[in-house]
Amino acid sequence: MFSKIDHLGIAVPDLDAALVLYEGGFALRVHHREILEDQGVEAVALEIGETTIELLRPIRDDSPIARFLADKGAGMHHIAYAVDDIEGALARLKAEGVRLVDETPRIGLAGSRIAFLHPKSTFGVLSELVQRG
Ligand code: CO
Repeated sequence: MFSKIDHLGIAVPDLDAALVLYEGGFALRVHHREILEDQGVEAVALEIGETTIELLRPIRDDSPIARFLADKGAGMHHIAYAVDDIEGALARLKAEGVRLVDETPRIGLAGSRIAFLHPKSTFGVLSELVQRG
């Protein structure tokens, strides 16, 4: 069902400060930067081999990322798995009793289709499904 780790999401208070390390220090290439209004985030995607690091900062105080930063500070936010059929994967996981944050996919970075699984169902790790292309 999952073909690879699509990306790891890291919550940061300031993208440009984080890029000093991730782009400068770690020498990762930025391949996408976008504001997702409905999710209240600005995201930068950095390429690392077959996968991506996604840095996320809140664009307003009521966004989930802002609440995460207020509760826990900067750090690992979610793991994202690549799927070919996001509706099929959601239906299967739901049937297996996994609690879904998103019953239907929404639009993520670069036009991808995404859906989150509840961390209470995934041993504390907020998990995302991503279908690209
Ligand atoms: Co993500």
